[in-house]
Amino acid sequence: MKNSIKVLGIESSCDDTAASVLSLEYNQDQYSKVSIRSSIVFDQNSIHSSFGGVVPELAARAHSEKLDFSVESALEKARISINEIDLISVTSGPGLIGGLLSGVMFSKALALGLNKPLVGVNHLAGHALTPRLIDQTPFPYLVLLVSGGHCQFLIVENESNFKRIGGTIDDAPGEAFDKTAKILGLNYPGGPEIEKRALLGNSEAYELPKPLISQNNCNMSFSGLKTALRRETEKALVYNPILSEDTINDLCASFQKTMKDIFVTKSAIAMSIFKNSYPKIPHIISLVGGVAANTEIRSSLKQLAYMFGFKTVIPPFHLCTDNAAMIAFAGSQLFLKSKESKDNLRPRPRWPLDKTAPSLIGSGKRGRKS
Ligand code: KG4
Ligand code: ZN
Repeated sequence: MKNSIKVLGIESSCDDTAASVLSLEYNQDQYSKVSIRSSIVFDQNSIHSSFGGVVPELAARAHSEKLDFSVESALEKARISINEIDLISVTSGPGLIGGLLSGVMFSKALALGLNKPLVGVNHLAGHALTPRLIDQTPFPYLVLLVSGGHCQFLIVENESNFKRIGGTIDDAPGEAFDKTAKILGLNYPGGPEIEKRALLGNSEAYELPKPLISQNNCNMSFSGLKTALRRETEKALVYNPILSEDTINDLCASFQKTMKDIFVTKSAIAMSIFKNSYPKIPHIISLVGGVAANTEIRSSLKQLAYMFGFKTVIPPFHLCTDNAAMIAFAGSQLFLKSKESKDNLRPRPRWPLDKTAPSLIGSGKRGRKS
């Protein structure tokens, strides 16, 4: 028997207030078809831009001001009324506590008032399950999750089991993009700004460090990269009181190339691990998270995967950066499998996807995210 549900997703864990409506057809506990009816994202770039990074208090306030409006917009765009929603799915961690509280409290009130079921979702699971939202990618598959707060290689075994096989020991790559942009006087978020500048620069102009590159594992480190770039900037400023456009472009190109080289080297190791663990199934790798919106990083991963006999599934740009469609989808998967848990409905600033993997953050330096 075929059934269908309409899911409202709500995301407010960092600096995007997002709402989305999905329609999902399913047989028993397996979805057979999913369509994104609407996906609304209000970014807070103009609020945080002058600070060069997210200011948690300002982010929380902006979320509470925009949540109802984003839900209304998502319903309007999907042309359905709130009463037609069958399930509400909200990000309950990891992330900034103020934003998580706003989203979870808002969703609880909505679910209570409408008498609808509510599921709390791990934001990272939202990113990691996006390949299934766009492509019905079969389990298990390999994911490189690269965002503003996280960087991990994951084997996605099913909708609630994720095995981490490596990740950053300090900064996240998006964080490194953002901090580098700040050093160079570029706008926040730094990723898209650096990508634009990199197109105009010489990627061989500066040699930047690639820590851990020769270790035969999937761990990475980015904090030294940003520090080395700061040093190169200071050196350039000795000869000129302001950085020339050419210098900025060359630094951006060199930074992006170094980042890409690190991902390529470590993805090769991750693909070997995956192949050894699952020799007899189709091999699939996906790149997800905000940094996956970077064209050079996307194309280099595609090329590498091709050489390793892997299929690549890379979401379109708007589903790489934060959005609520991925949250609606991840919540629907837990709901269908009856794996939703009341415990997931409390805001959890820290919430590792793989609870068995030891913390990597702190093995490099004490970071703010795990
Ligand atoms: O996944 P996301 O939207 O939010 C988090 O969960 O962190 O990722 C945001 C990060 C920011 O650090 C931003 O600079 C980076 O993704 N980003 C990019 C690009 N677009 C966004 N980094 C590199 N190249 C891009 N085109
Ligand atoms: Zn994210």
